Amino acid sequence: MTANAPGPEEVRKGTFRFPQRHFLSVFDLERPDVERLLDLAEGFVALNRQKAKKLDLLKGHTLINLFFEASTRTQSSFELAGKRLGADVVNMNPRTSSVAKGETLIDTAVTLNAMHPDILVVRHGASGAASLLSQKVSCSVVNAGDGQHEHPSQALLDALSLKRAFGRVEGLTVAICGDVLHSRVARSNVGMLGLLGARVRLVGPPTLIPSGADRWGVEIAHDLRTGLAGADVVMMLRLQLERMEGALVPSLREYFRLWGLDREKLARAAPHVRVMHPGPMNRGVEIDSDVADDLSVSLIQDQVEMGVAARMAILASMAARLDNG
Ligand code: NCD
Repeated sequence: MTANAPGPEEVRKGTFRFPQRHFLSVFDLERPDVERLLDLAEGFVALNRQKAKKLDLLKGHTLINLFFEASTRTQSSFELAGKRLGADVVNMNPRTSSVAKGETLIDTAVTLNAMHPDILVVRHGASGAASLLSQKVSCSVVNAGDGQHEHPSQALLDALSLKRAFGRVEGLTVAICGDVLHSRVARSNVGMLGLLGARVRLVGPPTLIPSGADRWGVEIAHDLRTGLAGADVVMMLRLQLERMEGALVPSLREYFRLWGLDREKLARAAPHVRVMHPGPMNRGVEIDSDVADDLSVSLIQDQVEMGVAARMAILASMAARLDNG
């Protein structure tokens, strides 16, 4: 942790508060903001390992989770994060709400907004959905994933996992591999890792690398063995078949042979390499279980743990802004 790292007291006093009303994109953040969020999250990691895990930083505040797309990790960690900070948390399920009767995204959000929530955490299949909502409601909006666009809280939890594993993010070479085209995790990580001074390499078949990626300030490799050479971190991405129109990969067996991470391909990376995956994993498609489950290289479970702490830091600093104007 850096000197003068913010803790619950700074949040309570409002001396550290979230830089904007909404959290929509990593590209809205400055490096000092991220560093302070990471420091704040570190304190929450320790709290989450204790028997008594509750604080009152969000007491009196209401958080609504509005997830139009499936989620295990993100939704439950925002729920736990809100509850551990003392908020009232409501989970809306589009399958059993009026969304199932055809109510639009905007109508649903405006309806929920009329109940005076303080923070709306939104996941939606359309890029830009969270930003659009933020213009229609009076509460703060957190983007929990909008289509193929961004997933900023994932990038923060990934940075926290790396900082704890390596002691720093600056100077690390991070290979982000696989289905970059459909990945909001990749886009947010390109921004976040760039902000924190890491070197990013996008590795995947030409059909799964976005056409403008050569202007993102990253290296690009179209062969996994070349792309992994000397990497400190290998971040594997899920093959997002649900977002694909037509066949972008020949077959799953062929994909694993060329693009699946196994021991043999991982041997190209640095000896101290760490492997990440945002989950959910397609075992035997983009990653071999042998690598995913090896706790001496895999950070995948740490990422899940850091997800709660990182989201607590986001929510606590947003509450500091709400409470202190
Ligand atoms: C990711 C997502 O939803 O964008 N998952 C997550 O939030 N942990 C990645 C994915 O779905 O592959």
